[in-house]
Amino acid sequence: MAIEGFAVDASSANGFNGKITLSVVITCIVAASSGLIFGYDLGITGGVTTMKPFLEKFFPAILIKAASAKTNMYCVYDDQLLTLFTSSLFLAGLVSSLLASHITTALGRRNTMIFGGCIFFAGGAINAAAVNIGMLILGRILLGIGVGFTNQATPVYLSEIAPPKWRGAFNTGFQLFNNIGVVAANCVNYGTARLPWGWRVSLGLAMVPATIMTMGALLIPDTPSSLVERNHIDQARNALRKVRGPTADVEPELQQLIESSQVSKAMERESFAVIFEHRYRPQLVMAFAIPLSQQLSGINTVAFYAPNLFQSVVIGNNSALLSAVILGLVNLASTLVSTAVVDRFGRRLLFIVGGIQMLLCMISVAVVLAVGSGVHGTDQISKGNSIAVLVLLCFYAAGFAWSLGPLCWLIPSEIFPMKIRSTGQSIAIAVQFLTTFVLSQTFLTMLCHFKFGAFLFYAGWLVLITIFVILFLPETRGISLDSMYAIWGKHWYWRRFVGEGQVIQPR
Ligand code: BGC
Repeated sequence: MAIEGFAVDASSANGFNGKITLSVVITCIVAASSGLIFGYDLGITGGVTTMKPFLEKFFPAILIKAASAKTNMYCVYDDQLLTLFTSSLFLAGLVSSLLASHITTALGRRNTMIFGGCIFFAGGAINAAAVNIGMLILGRILLGIGVGFTNQATPVYLSEIAPPKWRGAFNTGFQLFNNIGVVAANCVNYGTARLPWGWRVSLGLAMVPATIMTMGALLIPDTPSSLVERNHIDQARNALRKVRGPTADVEPELQQLIESSQVSKAMERESFAVIFEHRYRPQLVMAFAIPLSQQLSGINTVAFYAPNLFQSVVIGNNSALLSAVILGLVNLASTLVSTAVVDRFGRRLLFIVGGIQMLLCMISVAVVLAVGSGVHGTDQISKGNSIAVLVLLCFYAAGFAWSLGPLCWLIPSEIFPMKIRSTGQSIAIAVQFLTTFVLSQTFLTMLCHFKFGAFLFYAGWLVLITIFVILFLPETRGISLDSMYAIWGKHWYWRRFVGEGQVIQPR
């Protein structure tokens, strides 16, 4: 049965001439480099907020607290203003990712990426020059607006331009660059930590990844889908020829894009209203559930506050930054595992294996901290236990890197039909920013009050996430974007929303 409004035929699941060409590889690498700016920001913040000259200038109260012998080790960094510095970026990102939906639809994915890169550049410059908290927060708001745009547009760009059979691998490029940004930032922090104005260098160097990705985005074409959606048919044909190779027959693929676009335009309602229609409920639920799951796995607790965590819970200043570098490298290398297998074994298996691995690590971290530092967190933790925490967090980061890390960008970018793809991705990114904001705003307080129990909180969520994936996430491997609608029709639960659809077997 064909699904109303969507031409679903099995040949489109084969993805036309979806071969890997040098051009599509280069285009995707350049586009994925947008992940650098988000990663750089994630990696730089935790380190900067432990630098003494930075705290002296903007948050002197924390240093006074740290010097007081009475404070228990979990509570040193529990300061609302400091946390707001970190999380203001996520609020700004939330707003701009929602606006980005209209901008990517009207101006295309690539232009949105360029726009995001320029704003991020300005944010980096203001932060480097900051003389008061106002400037610091303004800079972070601009950084947040920048990543709101790029995080919304880039995953969709990658999914639309990649050959369907290898969409997963290409899309993980975004998370790879994200991790490269994190590691680069950690290394920068390691080098600048000793300088009195080191924090200015750390924050200002954000302009480098912004320049790299903006220049890169200027050199690539927009996606054929986006060009067709905006009636630039000739440009879409050229873009297709460029990425599919000069000898490929791109006309059938172009025709399918034009048909999908006509169907989309026939629905006159605003895409924000369309997405709430009953038949799109499965996709909408995923747009909420996947990013929520990514954040509720606890990754940013580990990522942002790794230096704070190690410093207040485990080891001294430089070793804390070094531990963050190690964690970042593990995350980066393990993302490559996902790149290699996501199109072979599918998304579900990675989710399940990664989820169980992270769950076991979180429980073990809680046990080591409880045993090592006492129930109140007042005992001096031993070197052996500190190393055990670091090793466990490395296994945790690896589990994240081959599951929730890259899949959180991939799944929302591939499950929506063209008309609402941009809106769907915007919702997913906004949910991700909102959850990150809430968690980062509350984590240090939670660590202070719940102590090692904070890690059990995330363990509980990991149980729920893994069960959710097993029951509700259909496999999307190997299915072309235009045929994706059919997966819900054969799912035991979601089919009640879309009816018994045509069955398409993933290859
Ligand atoms: C997540 C971030 C996380 C990062 C770690 C990203 O996919 O969205 O919240 O900090 O991965 O590598």
